[in-house]
Amino acid sequence: MPSPDRRVRVVCIERETESAVRVCIEPVDGGDWIYRAGQYLTHCFDIDGQTQRRPYSICVAEGARALWFACKRVDGGRVSAFVCDELAVGDEYSVRGPSGSFTLDDAPGPLLFIAAGCGITPIMSLIETALARDPQRAVQLIYANRDQQSIMFSDRLEALTRQHGSFQLTHVLSRPQAGWDGPCGRLNDQKLAGLVTLGSDTRAYLCGPQAMMQGLRETLLGMGMSAEAVQSEAFTPAARAVQAHPGAPQTVHFARSGQSVVQAPGQSILDAALAHGVAVDYSCTVGGCAACKLRVIKGETLMDEPNCLSDSERAAGYTLACSAYALGPVEIDA
Ligand code: FES
Repeated sequence: MPSPDRRVRVVCIERETESAVRVCIEPVDGGDWIYRAGQYLTHCFDIDGQTQRRPYSICVAEGARALWFACKRVDGGRVSAFVCDELAVGDEYSVRGPSGSFTLDDAPGPLLFIAAGCGITPIMSLIETALARDPQRAVQLIYANRDQQSIMFSDRLEALTRQHGSFQLTHVLSRPQAGWDGPCGRLNDQKLAGLVTLGSDTRAYLCGPQAMMQGLRETLLGMGMSAEAVQSEAFTPAARAVQAHPGAPQTVHFARSGQSVVQAPGQSILDAALAHGVAVDYSCTVGGCAACKLRVIKGETLMDEPNCLSDSERAAGYTLACSAYALGPVEIDA
């Protein structure tokens, strides 16, 4: 079951890189967090009179009482600008979750992590958790960035290499500044094949821009890894559906509550429901947890892909309210 909203307080904000900050939050209720490494919280910020929800990965090992997340400024992104420039120590807001299945399984054996940019955030939590459980475990991280200044968690990663002889760290920089003598250029399939050391029981975790991670996943499968041994997560929003989102307002009727709302252009069904006070459950808001799964009784909807809805759920008429858009008048079983 998804967790309900929980109030949190910002207790510390530190600069991570020139364009990113890391933020520490604690629950206002004083309780503990229950989460798994690799999961994320959906942060609900009040910005310019509107609630804006964004998922940010927890970037500390399992068991922490104070959680950290990191946010990198996105060009033109109002929420990332708010977190980087306006969020302040002492501010309170709500979070939902944790959500996400990008988590360690119980299998022993070597671990391979591949991250690009701020895709390192869940991977930091996974690596620190894996090494806390077994300090001698063979763990390899290949971390792609633009240049030395864009590397996040640089100090923590260097500390891990000093503390754990079994931790192997390789930075790959696409446009390094002078003085760099490590691997450079784009992290593509040829480069990856030359860097990874795979055992027959290696498990791999990939996080970064979706297209890049898809290509690298194919490379690992081509090198003999099984599909079950490779988990990947995209930190960029879900790719848009093949059709354009509806450009005109649409009516969404919630059959059980009897409420009808107008979905404005750009709004998902979940956005429209929440804007009009219709109680719809949700957690991640990015199509990853199924908390907002609803059945469409009548009408046509469009969903952002990829998402976590199975083929059988689609065939049964379900949709994910956070990722779905009414294309005309729609009736929902809620
Ligand atoms: S809220 Fe998680 S899939 Fe919609």
